[in-house]
Amino acid sequence: MKHFLDIHLTDPADLRVMIDAARAMKTARNNRPRGARDDDQPLAGRMVALIFEKPSTRTRVSFDVGVRQMGGETMVLSGKEMQLGHGETIADTARVLSRYVDLIMIRTFEEATLLEMAEHATVPVINGLTNRTHPCQIMADVMTYEEHRGPIAGKKVVWSGDGNNVFASFAHAAGQFGFDLTFTGPETLDPERVWLEWAAAKGYPVTIDRNPERAVMGADLVVTDTWVSMHDPESARERRHNQLRAYQVNEALMARAKPDALFMHCLPAHRNDEATSGVMDGPHSVIFDEAENRLHAQKAVMRWCLGV
Ligand code: CP
Ligand code: NVA
Repeated sequence: MKHFLDIHLTDPADLRVMIDAARAMKTARNNRPRGARDDDQPLAGRMVALIFEKPSTRTRVSFDVGVRQMGGETMVLSGKEMQLGHGETIADTARVLSRYVDLIMIRTFEEATLLEMAEHATVPVINGLTNRTHPCQIMADVMTYEEHRGPIAGKKVVWSGDGNNVFASFAHAAGQFGFDLTFTGPETLDPERVWLEWAAAKGYPVTIDRNPERAVMGADLVVTDTWVSMHDPESARERRHNQLRAYQVNEALMARAKPDALFMHCLPAHRNDEATSGVMDGPHSVIFDEAENRLHAQKAVMRWCLGV
């Protein structure tokens, strides 16, 4: 069973196959007239369940469109409306869904929910974000970097802000794709130690630098994300904003990175909090390419899971 649960749990050779397949599928699709069906319909006759326990725009739409482009069908399920949200166990839900569908994508809170789903499902399970990681996003981000600038291996990537779930998947990607990752943010919002230890054990220790101006020097890629994630308590908003203000990605900070540095944000963004509109809409920004590439990267992930 080929689940796509996390970047650090997937063989680096398989990750490379998926990135290259995603780029090939994007090129093939862009060379077809708009509206024309893809020649390749590898998911014909297959049904994919997309389960959301948290809000989503990109993940929901890109998975749904991706399945349809490949000839498959989807059902989008809200966790709250399922029996899952009313006491049925995750294990039983996994067993039941496996009798109906060929693939399950789940966006959830606790990582344990994802892992239990994968343990009991007899079809592949894909991680569409948990409180701890967001692997599909970083597959799209690696693809985006490489289509603009070539191989990401050996490059300097700087994350400024909260050491959150999206950062965690960057730490995993650093180890698997071989790039240098720097974290700049307040100590109170440091990434989980276990991810830092994992990257270090892979030979790509994450550099921690509390000074954002120093951290971004020589960066090939600067990345940030929202200061308050979906799983963070609303009561923490003001404190987080105060702690993270110094780590805003603005024009002055970007000017310290390499002249051809890229800027990424997984979106949704809070403009002029974690990044200024000047940066988001400026010459370094590839944020909408990242969003588009969710579609292509996830099509490759689904094909890999299903072996089609
Ligand atoms: N980046 C991302 O996962 O966006 P959504 O929350 O809109 O799915
Ligand atoms: N860190 C954010 C990412 C959203 C795509 C969150 O978890 O809310």
